[in-house]
Amino acid sequence: MESLAKNVVWHQAAVTRELRQELNGHRAVNLWFTGLSGSGKSTIAHAVEEHLFRAGCRTFVFDGDNVRHGLCSDLDFSESGRSENIRRIAEMVKLFLEVGVIALTAFISPLREDRQRVRELLGEDFIEIYCQCSLDVCEGRDVKGLYRKAREGKIQNYTGISSPYEEPVHPDLVLDTGTSPLETCIAKVLSLLKTRQVI
Ligand code: ADX
Repeated sequence: MESLAKNVVWHQAAVTRELRQELNGHRAVNLWFTGLSGSGKSTIAHAVEEHLFRAGCRTFVFDGDNVRHGLCSDLDFSESGRSENIRRIAEMVKLFLEVGVIALTAFISPLREDRQRVRELLGEDFIEIYCQCSLDVCEGRDVKGLYRKAREGKIQNYTGISSPYEEPVHPDLVLDTGTSPLETCIAKVLSLLKTRQVI
């Protein structure tokens, strides 16, 4: 989105991202978890965060249900509402990368184009992790009872039911969250972070 603010100059801080990363002892990246509702994004993001935090890393998890209570409470689940949701989150994550943290994000982010825009904004700091889980399994779990409501027509534009989910074409990592145990998924993410020399 083009900025409407004129005569605004980016302030270059003396305490740079590089200095913060040096102090933290790790790189700042964004672990972007994408997948259907109920595919395990938040569960895995929080579990990975706990491991990283215990190992002394600076971390934070942004979660769809939380962000939509505040920063994005004015947005609906139409295509444009979801795109704006993802755009705001990406900009927020960009600031958090300047803070030097490992930002873990758990949003359905169903549209390829929206995720591609995040990749373009964040470059190599964007690590896309696809939580692959069939609709049958997600719907079977139905932790929040929203799939049932969507089937009853009580919720419109529900991802997987009445709104599309576009699988990532080249994700950095695929987690089989329908069958793999949580510990296996955590280990795969941590291993990727080591391979990419983040931690
Ligand atoms: S996204 O599509 O814009 O990325 P986001 O991750 O922020 O979605 O929010 C998803 C959460 O909102 C779901 O886990 C679910 O609890 C809730 N929700 C409410 N309505 C919908 C809907 N129509 N489609 C998907 N999720 C919904």
